[in-house]
Amino acid sequence: MPNSPAPITDKDVYLRALDQVRSAAAAYHGGGDAQMDDAAYDRLMKAIASYEQKYPDQRAADSPTALVAAGSLPDGAVAHATPMLSLDNVFDAEELVHWAESLGKRLGSEPRGFHAGPKIDGLAVAAHYREGKLVQLVTRGTGTTGEDVSHAIGTIDGLPVELDMPVSIEVRGEVVLLQSRFEEANRIRVTHGEDPFSNPRNAASGSLRATGRNYTIPLSFYGYGLLPAADGEAGGLIREEMTHTELMKALGSLGVQAVDDTPVGTLTSPLIKDIQAYVEKVAAQRADLPVGIDGIVIKADHPQDQAVAGSGSRAPRWAVAFKLPALEVISTLTAATWTTGRTGNIAPRGEVLPVEIEGVTVQFATLHNPGMIARLGLRIGDRVVLRRAGDVIPQILAPVTSARTGQEKPIELPTVCPGCGGEIDKSQERWRCLKGRACNLAASITYAVQRDVLDIQGIGPKVVAQLVAREAVQDVADLFTLTLGQLTTATGSEKTAAKILDRLAAAKQRPLARLFCALGVRGTGRSMSRRVADFFGSMAAIQAASAAELRQVEGIGSEKAAWMLAELAELEPVIAKLAAAGVNLGGPQDSAPAADISGSGQDSGAALPLAGKTVVVTGSMGGRLGLLSRNDMNELIEKAGGRSGSSVSKSTSLVVAGDKAGSKKAKAEQLGIPVIGPDEFAQMVSAYL
Ligand code: IVH
Repeated sequence: MPNSPAPITDKDVYLRALDQVRSAAAAYHGGGDAQMDDAAYDRLMKAIASYEQKYPDQRAADSPTALVAAGSLPDGAVAHATPMLSLDNVFDAEELVHWAESLGKRLGSEPRGFHAGPKIDGLAVAAHYREGKLVQLVTRGTGTTGEDVSHAIGTIDGLPVELDMPVSIEVRGEVVLLQSRFEEANRIRVTHGEDPFSNPRNAASGSLRATGRNYTIPLSFYGYGLLPAADGEAGGLIREEMTHTELMKALGSLGVQAVDDTPVGTLTSPLIKDIQAYVEKVAAQRADLPVGIDGIVIKADHPQDQAVAGSGSRAPRWAVAFKLPALEVISTLTAATWTTGRTGNIAPRGEVLPVEIEGVTVQFATLHNPGMIARLGLRIGDRVVLRRAGDVIPQILAPVTSARTGQEKPIELPTVCPGCGGEIDKSQERWRCLKGRACNLAASITYAVQRDVLDIQGIGPKVVAQLVAREAVQDVADLFTLTLGQLTTATGSEKTAAKILDRLAAAKQRPLARLFCALGVRGTGRSMSRRVADFFGSMAAIQAASAAELRQVEGIGSEKAAWMLAELAELEPVIAKLAAAGVNLGGPQDSAPAADISGSGQDSGAALPLAGKTVVVTGSMGGRLGLLSRNDMNELIEKAGGRSGSSVSKSTSLVVAGDKAGSKKAKAEQLGIPVIGPDEFAQMVSAYL
């Protein structure tokens, strides 16, 4: 059980545990290396608390259980007029219900309402605005006094230097480094001769507090609290009777980014079961959020409930954090192996001592590429911070350099291609076999014939292996010139071979996106291929694209544009063979008219039924849509001019809710976003079905 603490059995173990917690908390809050992962920290705190409950006479007067940040923080120079408190934690639904019940008992009635929002995993700050101008920025520090970090004013996204109204207020919130910026932040850092940050939180904390650096790490802010200035005029913006929900709305109206602006938004409800559903929704989406979260904060929404419940020395009694299992854990890197993938990419895979993340045992993690290994200075034997996001293979974020013993060994880089023993193209950050897709041809062809690519049933990995071994196929285009004889030999059945030939004939008319995807250009999976195909409209236009034009497609940066150009040139003979075999490369055929790449043809997009709309699909689809996979649905939405989204937010235009639709539907209704059923949707896009 990851959340059940190891019991503390005697006073010595108790005192040692206090030391461990204090030192880990000092590193965590001081921007140092992550010494202990969050789950281990929470377990230890829980064990300490239960020991203190059992033996109250042995409780240390300065126990970390009663202090903000475990009392690890040095006093800063600036006093907080209202203390910046910590939060108590709950770890499961039962504990949440228990918390709500005890709050109810304290109030003598049911709480008037709850507010729930994501718990942002950053560094807490108080931003002081006077007459609309940001005049001082202070870290939480001890909770009573913090450190002045006003030098960072003007460098934090979402925390404007000037508000939309000339009010004097204090905004509280978290400063973070967005997940997408972590790699770049470490690149900048290492270029300046410093050790890499171990995770985004550590990067935010270190960067906010640092002065005198000749580089800036781009940070962001998410607000979760709004107070009148201690000695200023909030201009009627804040009234005593305002609920937390109303305060957050007011914060948004000032131009400050708030937790409401994350893709999961916030939820207000009098029912703890709604809050529970929200917790589940956030938990399901957290890995895809642009910002790291470590839980959900649930608050009594009404100011009177808050006042009656009051606060302890460390935490308020009217709010609680529902902690989610940590996505980041620390383990030891024991080995690195290299493999050549379907596109010819040579990728390193790290082996780590088995460790649990969200209940899944992790043994392998991506080591990215040789450039990244060098930048992070990773070594075999290193303690490493691992992050598992969604179902993809976990990533190694960074080594914990402070845990080095000197026994660590360098990671050996391959000198020849691990697939074929041939030469490696090392000209770019990602290494590639000089033979490209031909190196692991079987993997390349197996990918191309999959259901949501060319959809050629009957050709599975075994048949592919036969075709490759007999050199009947040397690239994806050769599939379309296979003979009945070749397929009969490969499958062992003339009947099967004839069926496959029919399917191959049908596959010549697949949409451009799928044909492009089947080529196996690095970094162009299904969704990227759809974007490329939609943008350019024909294979010829893709081939004629310049790097600048490629970069106009969402998700293509300079690095990817460069290698796409090179690979498209390399694929010229394959594309010519496809055309010669009668494969339709002219356009999206059974798809919608493509966007005009000159940028002037907005009309073609506007005529589509979902033009400009972001559509979220939830629940199971019935009727005409019943047979479609999620990928098919995404394709359909994109063909009809829309974009498919995974979570409901203010920017969602339409939600298609089928059977058993849950929190996404509820959220859409709450936000006033149109919700329709599968049948109505099928009618709307019937031309594209
Ligand atoms: S409310 C008095 N809401 O988590 C209530 N805190 O572990 C104070 N945090 O000190 C906090 N996201 O720094 C609140 N949506 C959110 C939050 C949040 C992150 C931080 C905050 C707090 C810490 C407690």
